[in-house]
Amino acid sequence: MAMVCLSDFEAYAKKHLPKIAWDFFAAGADDCSTRDENILAYKRIHFRPRMLRDVSMMDIRTKLLGTEISFPVGIAPTGFHQLAWPDGEKSTARAAKAMNTCYIASTYSTCTLEEISTAAPGGLRWFQLYIHRNREVAQHLVQQAEALGFQGLVLTADVPYTGKRRDDIRNGFRLPPHMKLKNLEGAFEVCKTSCLDASLTWNDIYWLRSLTHLPIIIKGILTREDAELAVKHAVQGIIVSNHGGRQLDGGPATIDALVEVVKSVQGRVEVYLDGGIRKGSDVLKALALGAKCVFIGRPAIWGLAYKGEEGLQDVLRILQDEFRLSMALAGCASISEIGPHLVQFSKL
Ligand code: FNR
Repeated sequence: MAMVCLSDFEAYAKKHLPKIAWDFFAAGADDCSTRDENILAYKRIHFRPRMLRDVSMMDIRTKLLGTEISFPVGIAPTGFHQLAWPDGEKSTARAAKAMNTCYIASTYSTCTLEEISTAAPGGLRWFQLYIHRNREVAQHLVQQAEALGFQGLVLTADVPYTGKRRDDIRNGFRLPPHMKLKNLEGAFEVCKTSCLDASLTWNDIYWLRSLTHLPIIIKGILTREDAELAVKHAVQGIIVSNHGGRQLDGGPATIDALVEVVKSVQGRVEVYLDGGIRKGSDVLKALALGAKCVFIGRPAIWGLAYKGEEGLQDVLRILQDEFRLSMALAGCASISEIGPHLVQFSKL
């Protein structure tokens, strides 16, 4: 079967993964309205393409906190990659490096941070942190990530508790016994992943800051009020995210929330987005509305499920080609030419 667009990888993954793994990756919270809205919202945004603008030479490179990447799409943190491919996060790291983009490795990886960094030395990686009640675990992970050359620390802010994902409950989802959350091994006596610290507040950013020199990026922001607080607490980046619709159901699509966050931040920190990116034209819409870069969650997993490192590279390459083509057809030869003039919201 020719793999032409990201939906082809989705169909492949759905057909070939065990049902319990597919359901876990696909899950949204409650009745999945926010998960689905992330995708639908792009259809309400239309382009205002410009013509005759010399798009014979295209430059789609950009920078993430000063580091160049080949195009403005990175890999969002998702857990449990070994459920999709035996080499797990090692394959993810290799694919991201081969495509010269950023991979945000999750706390809930099934490979250690060391295995991830050894698999693809020199690749651009950020580490995504969940903070558990035992703060020493977070401290250890942050310092380990910094020592291993990770270049950013992503604090996920939208998970004081895990959202209610019905299929996981119905399936009694848990990791198979031969897979481990290797970065947390030995960290908890009793409670494993349910030990998230629900008492976190903005003040804990100061605590994180005291542990590391890495830039801090906060993930899960959806409102101007929280964007303002993020800037006030001197984070270097914001990821507008609703966790792929897996946390609070009924919140906004991320592309809709992006507009208000970008407006309040006014260029003081970089703003990124994840959720619902399935085509190159989605990336272009997000950039037009002010995102510096976007990240893909589930599509990366579909790529792994298809052919590991190679499959994920295919996914990234398809998105890259689609993005370049959309830019050219909209009349932009470089990222700096993308702006709000390029889009309009449907009047329907
Ligand atoms: C996630 N997400 C996530 N986020 C995070 O900060 N840490 C994590 O460990 C995970 N784990 C995770 C697992 C799975 C299976 C999914 C689908 C998502 C959220 C993720 O980073 C991102 O916000 C969404 O996946 C983006 O939406 P799309 O691209 O999946 O539509």
